Amino acid sequence: MRDFYNEFFRRKSFHLFRDTGSISEKDLEELNDFLKEVKPLDETIRYTCRIVKESETTCKRGAEYCILFYSEKKNEYLRNIGYIGEQIDLYLTSKNIGTLWFGIGKPDEKEYDGLDYIIMIAFSRMAEDRFRKDMFKSKRKSLEETWSGEELPFSNIVRFTPSACNTQPWITEHIDNKLYVYRYKKAGKRGIMPVKAVMYYNRIDIGIYLYILEMCLNHENITFERELYEDLSDDTVEKTLSAVYTLK
Ligand SMILES: Cc1cc2nc3c(=O)[nH]c(=O)nc-3n(C[C@H](O)[C@H](O)[C@H](O)COP(=O)(O)O)c2cc1C
Repeated sequence: MRDFYNEFFRRKSFHLFRDTGSISEKDLEELNDFLKEVKPLDETIRYTCRIVKESETTCKRGAEYCILFYSEKKNEYLRNIGYIGEQIDLYLTSKNIGTLWFGIGKPDEKEYDGLDYIIMIAFSRMAEDRFRKDMFKSKRKSLEETWSGEELPFSNIVRFTPSACNTQPWITEHIDNKLYVYRYKKAGKRGIMPVKAVMYYNRIDIGIYLYILEMCLNHENITFERELYEDLSDDTVEKTLSAVYTLK
């Protein structure tokens, strides 16, 4: 896998794309090549990506293109798409192409090649100086709310992972040589999203978080073994185990 550690500090959501450049044929070719390199979490889940003009979707944020994710609905397919999509988010950032994970968007085609539409990322070329300058200034939960046990060099970095409505539905517990990653939603806490939407997007968010966590482990040259768990709980459960990393 490519190392996008430095891009993580620069990435941000372009909620509105203004003063955009244009995406060239070469950009699209390189993106298509990168799509072949992307590593899913679960190789058994069939998925595909389509790149379409923003006008072929309900997204009206001024982006030039959207990348649409379609997947078979099996196992933890939402988590899988989060893990895949974040690699693309950081790849595009590395090319000075700004992105927006766009959960509320809908494409013209809800199905493609027998797969269901899951989510999109809008993108446009942006000037280099429009990317994030100080990640630590972005709004996030505190370290104490998202990490327990001994800190690792990246505990204070991984918490800047993006999530739908900035819900940050994760907690990592570091016990002995293991990291226990949970999908976490405080019982009874209501945000602006309907419960069904929270359940959907937070599963994508967890996949994004796992990718960023692994990227950080790789950056620190910490080798690990990963065990994934199926997330069968609903929103009445506060903490659901998603993955355990055994650090070597
Ligand atoms: C799965 C997912 C869905 C999102 N959906 C939307 C959306 O529909 N509209 C929007 O403006 N932002 C959306 N966002 C962007 C988040 O609001 C943003 O990532 C979060 O507030 C953190 O800000 P940052 O990405 O600039 O670090 C989404 C992000 C994720 C990860």
